[in-house]
Amino acid sequence: MFELKDVYASYGEGMVLRHVSLEAPKGRVTCLVGRNGAGKTTTLKSVMGLVKTPQGKILLDDKEIQDLPVYERAKKGIGYVPQGREIFPQLTVEENILLGLEAKKGKGGIPDFIYETFPILNEFRKRKGGDLSGGQQQQLAIARAVAAEPALLILDEPTEGIQPSVIQEIGRVITELKSRMAVLIVEQYLEFVMEIADYCYVMENGRIIMDGEPEELDQEKLQATMSL
Ligand SMILES: Nc1ncnc2c1ncn2[C@@H]1O[C@H](COP(=O)(O)OP(=O)(O)OP(=O)(O)O)[C@@H](O)[C@H]1O
Ligand SMILES: [Mg+2]
Repeated sequence: MFELKDVYASYGEGMVLRHVSLEAPKGRVTCLVGRNGAGKTTTLKSVMGLVKTPQGKILLDDKEIQDLPVYERAKKGIGYVPQGREIFPQLTVEENILLGLEAKKGKGGIPDFIYETFPILNEFRKRKGGDLSGGQQQQLAIARAVAAEPALLILDEPTEGIQPSVIQEIGRVITELKSRMAVLIVEQYLEFVMEIADYCYVMENGRIIMDGEPEELDQEKLQATMSL
């Protein structure tokens, strides 16, 4: 179980997030939606320790992590796929995934579930990351983040810049992973969210304004929040 409790975040002057509370249990895909600038990425940066959180608690399996440095949080079991998926283009698929294992204690090789979940990466093991398509690079970024079997996977706009036909594949992968770890996704693409989310939080101006299962959300309010 992963939780944010009454978290505030700031880049220096003024609070970008206020009073943000959310839960992301294992077995569920939890989505955080909101328009440009709402504070979605800042929420994920708060989880990782990449932005100051002067108030609030961040809990991973009931342990407070808000005072830990970034690398300690990664070691405690948070896999982060940042917005714009940063893979190493000059390294092979296999090498990229192996880098993800660096965060793990008692390493070992690439676990079997990786190539089972991402068959395309198995096929292209020896290919350079930079030679993959956008959708395949997104899969590689996710594979790298989950190779160390984190307790929590956080994804920042995994569908951004990806062809609609490939988005489905990303959805399948995420749905498969939720049995192994808690998954928290930031998204603006509502159709995708409605398909994969088990629970949604809606953010506006750095606050959560609404939450619920996708089908119980007030669709009118949701559309109004997302468009401007
Ligand atoms: N490094 C920074 N320094 C100062 N302010 C920032 C910084 N990064 C983001 N902000 C501000 O924080 C607010 C929230 O930004 P954030 O990137 O979290 O939004 P977002 O919901 O992820 O938007 P998008 O959908 O465009 O990615 C915005 O007003 C933004 O201008
Ligand atoms: Mg963002």
